[in-house]
Amino acid sequence: MKKALALTLAAAMALSLVACSGGNGGTSQASSGSAGSASSATSSAQTGTVANKDKPLVWFNRQPSNSSTGELDMTALSFNKDTYYVGFDANQGAELQGTMILDYIKANIDTIDRNGDGIIGYVLAIGDIGHNDSIARTRGVRSALGTAIEKDGAIVSDPVGTNADGSATAVQDGTLEVNGKTYIVRELASQEMKNSAGATWDAATAGNAIGTWSASFGEQIDVVASNNDGMGMSMFNAWSKANNVPTFGYDANADAVAAIAEGYGGTISQHADVQAYLTLRVLRNALDGVDVDTGIGTADDAGNVLSSDVYYYNADERSYYALNVAVTAENYENFLDSTKVYEPVSNQLDATEHPEKSVWLNIYNAADNFLSATYQPLLQNYDDLLNLKVEYIGGDGQTEANITNRLSNPGAYDAFAINMVKTDNAASYTGILAQ
Ligand code: BGC
Ligand code: CA
Repeated sequence: MKKALALTLAAAMALSLVACSGGNGGTSQASSGSAGSASSATSSAQTGTVANKDKPLVWFNRQPSNSSTGELDMTALSFNKDTYYVGFDANQGAELQGTMILDYIKANIDTIDRNGDGIIGYVLAIGDIGHNDSIARTRGVRSALGTAIEKDGAIVSDPVGTNADGSATAVQDGTLEVNGKTYIVRELASQEMKNSAGATWDAATAGNAIGTWSASFGEQIDVVASNNDGMGMSMFNAWSKANNVPTFGYDANADAVAAIAEGYGGTISQHADVQAYLTLRVLRNALDGVDVDTGIGTADDAGNVLSSDVYYYNADERSYYALNVAVTAENYENFLDSTKVYEPVSNQLDATEHPEKSVWLNIYNAADNFLSATYQPLLQNYDDLLNLKVEYIGGDGQTEANITNRLSNPGAYDAFAINMVKTDNAASYTGILAQ
């Protein structure tokens, strides 16, 4: 039985790989020459000799892609020869999150079923139904817990609303056999956490939802799962901590990691320390006119280098993907400081060899827990090490215009780092740069 579950799991994850980006074919070495080892973008913006359309551009955290099909937007990803995406392997992380939850349930099987009815009930907070990362995580949890169903070769990732009796069509009841006893696993409820103004991954909405869910399901809820820690911690603080219900998130934000000592079930580190470095590093390399692999797969003059166990580069997708690590009661103490630079890439670049350049960078939603509490502080640590003067623009998480309005003078910058509100909207930015 266990084996059957594992096999279904593997098959389901393989299928979901097809529907998602960031999959196979990654190599840890950037293909040489892809960035043009003799980039012409070495003169500073002040001289005005480089057209905006030729300046280095990095997309990060939200990969240009079709929000319904997940198909990558290769036009945006190859806008010019110095364009890249930096993110993390969504499928590998999603599978880890699902496995982490399943392992916890098995290890705590004697106490997990709070009302003793033989059904292990969980609720799921979904971040953004049109965001590849969110979709992958919903699939990863359902796949591991046996509640996934497939449609057109991919695991359904739609929210169920509520599913008290197991009759919802977006999921099925899973079965789990531990120590000779068979349990049912049921997704009691799930919804996209979007507020009335349209902001997704909304922590406050998740805090309200757990109130509603706990009022109707009470002791039927044995596990709380979330597409991220922002929503997970909101639910933990509002309800699960006081009720001793293990809650699982994603991101390894410092508050969530610290909460593991108080019963938070676990989280996933998406290696934001590696991603933030790569985000600025690909720009630095293009501005220096050196191979894009410098300081990444190949040590730079200061000794910065990454190893293939923390990232890979997929040349076809022009994308760098960091690898994820599960953070649980066993290892959380090593993850308490989420804004610490990654040691192998923490060496200061020489300012004569790598003179200061200016970068325009936006965070799509200044209120996003992960981006504001973890990613941006990391960027701010690396910008000094890489001699980049970065202007940080915080968006409202709702409209692209709120951000693009503040890109009115691209000529004043040497390079751009963009975090879109909606992954379909790359042209709102490239349109400005191409003018
Ligand atoms: C993070 C979420 C965050 C989102 C923003 C994801 O990778 O896990 O916490 O809200 O990025 O785009
Ligand atoms: Ca139960």
